[in-house]
Amino acid sequence: MSDEHNPGFNTNAVHAGYHAHSGPVNPPVEESSTYAFENCVDGADRFASRDKKGIYSRLSSPTVNALEKKIAKLEHGFGGIATASGMAAVSAVYFHFLDNESHVIATSSMYGPSRTILENSSFYKKWGVRATFLETSHVDNVRRAVQPNTKLIYIETPANPTLAITDISNVSALARKHGIPLVVDNTFCSPYLQNPLDWGADVVIHSMTKSIGGHANAVGGIIIAKTEKDYHDLRNVVTNTGGVLSPHDAVLFFNGVKTLGIRMDKMQESAKRIADFLANHEKIEWVIYPGHEDHPMHHLVGENRQMRGPGALISFGVRGGLVGAKTLLDNVKLNTLAVSLGGVESLMESPALMTHAGVPKFEREKAGIKDELVRCSVGIEDFEDLKADIEQALGKA
Ligand SMILES: Cc1ncc(COP(=O)(O)O)c(C=O)c1O
Repeated sequence: MSDEHNPGFNTNAVHAGYHAHSGPVNPPVEESSTYAFENCVDGADRFASRDKKGIYSRLSSPTVNALEKKIAKLEHGFGGIATASGMAAVSAVYFHFLDNESHVIATSSMYGPSRTILENSSFYKKWGVRATFLETSHVDNVRRAVQPNTKLIYIETPANPTLAITDISNVSALARKHGIPLVVDNTFCSPYLQNPLDWGADVVIHSMTKSIGGHANAVGGIIIAKTEKDYHDLRNVVTNTGGVLSPHDAVLFFNGVKTLGIRMDKMQESAKRIADFLANHEKIEWVIYPGHEDHPMHHLVGENRQMRGPGALISFGVRGGLVGAKTLLDNVKLNTLAVSLGGVESLMESPALMTHAGVPKFEREKAGIKDELVRCSVGIEDFEDLKADIEQALGKA
């Protein structure tokens, strides 16, 4: 292979971050919180180094570093910082970019806790931080909301659970004009389908708990920065506030992400068939799926576009409002009634009752999160089995 050859996504997913020429093919889980120095000069040198390797595993762990390098490669970033959860990544980003009395613009139907910690929680409110939540898929809304003290634009695309898509390059052009950092939560797409840094974002975050891990077996997050400066600043925030990922969980994500591409291909294929089936079912009022032409931002989905594929999430409204949605959810057998998404198992949930119950009903409805909405994350089971399960449960709705 020539030195100029650029490996494809699946090759990087398997080999980036750690590639053995001899010895174990997976990064060993290094179970040591602290590291011996050869002598005082060696200890002092390690403390003086920028990467802080071989000191103390909150500062740097080889197992976690292997994962960070792999995901940074997949996201086309300068570097990655793994965190103990997706929310630890969200919090580190808020903590880093927001000051006293600053203003943030954020996607209205973002993940519930990412929104509620800005909205209700005393720790941001007591510093006078204010947030404007709006439909960021309309860039004019974002333009109108910019204030002199806006210190962060934070978008989730597709948003949760409305699957509204924001055009990242439009928002990033606006953010650059005003010198405001743009952070994108890329959890729903995963780096297989979308690379926000390529479209002008400064920082990407993920809940790795979802499709990066893919097996619902660990909680974790990651921050990927485009520039060396943001990478080091955010690394400082995470190591000093302490929300780091454990090496045991790092190796689960390291191995999980190796199959991200093939899992996502299979999940997308079934999701498309399920979305078509739901769209034609008499008990379903509406379906939101980025792969359908009636999705308002469908033009951003496809080869060489912002989203290289429509993903495996479908939001749909069951006839009969909340009662109809509950009947479906209480009667599915193969589809698991559970929050989370992006894994090998198909999951369904009611945002009004579960993930977004903390958002007041009025605000929820303003953000398009209706009572009858069911969010479905399609896994890798056989399509015919998933369809039969939904069909029998809808028969009871
Ligand atoms: C889009 C999105 N961002 C962030 C999070 C938070 O991640 P975690 O649960 O790993 O803390 C979630 C969790 O569901 C999510 O869906």
